[in-house]
Amino acid sequence: MRSAAIKTLQLITDESGTFLRHRTTVFRCGSSSRTEVRPVFRFCDRMCRGDSHTDDMKTSVAIYPGSFDPVTNGHLDLIARGERMFDRVIVAVLKNVEKEPLFSVTERVEMLREVTKQWDSVEVDVFDGLLVEYARKRGAGVILRGIRAVSDYEYELQMALMNRKLEPRLETVFMLPGESYSYLSARLVREIAHLGGPLTGLVPAVVEQRLRAKVS
Ligand code: PNS
Repeated sequence: MRSAAIKTLQLITDESGTFLRHRTTVFRCGSSSRTEVRPVFRFCDRMCRGDSHTDDMKTSVAIYPGSFDPVTNGHLDLIARGERMFDRVIVAVLKNVEKEPLFSVTERVEMLREVTKQWDSVEVDVFDGLLVEYARKRGAGVILRGIRAVSDYEYELQMALMNRKLEPRLETVFMLPGESYSYLSARLVREIAHLGGPLTGLVPAVVEQRLRAKVS
């Protein structure tokens, strides 16, 4: 058996195949050869070490952009997943002059800061203009987006491919929120709030209070 250990990651090859071990968990890499698995191993190793190469955008800074009007438990679930995966997550609120939001950008940022304050590596910021330009300015290599259901896919695919056309070095990473949030959207939350329906479990308590105050 041959193995190459770097910190907590280990690439192992024996007669039965190639494996990646992270602490006590072993991932079987199918029938892939060591050569095929090595780039994945290098990537995982960089992620584990929090290595940031700003020269070629191999950073683990991810931007999670959106309207967040308001932040829901689904958004929060995705931020929590991103926080575990990337060195830094920048939650970027779009300042969109065309849309008529329920909450001002300042209010949305306040709520996001409140509900993400437990994570040191999560920052909340505002952006306008092209997302790829903002990502470049912030030194981010990843755009993080959530896909709840197949219905999200077409819109997200179009946006991801357009962003790739604008900046080929920027990768869009899609993550799945918890299944219990697959039907949840900020639009439905606003509608329920307007109609006086229950919001428990859909948004954090602080957001529920703000919603109630806003629509009363
Ligand atoms: O939460 P949303 O409203 O689905 O988020 C959409 C968002 C903010 C990600 C998207 O509208 C965006 O990136 N806007 C910035 C302008 C831009 O870069 N447009 C080209 C995208 S292909």
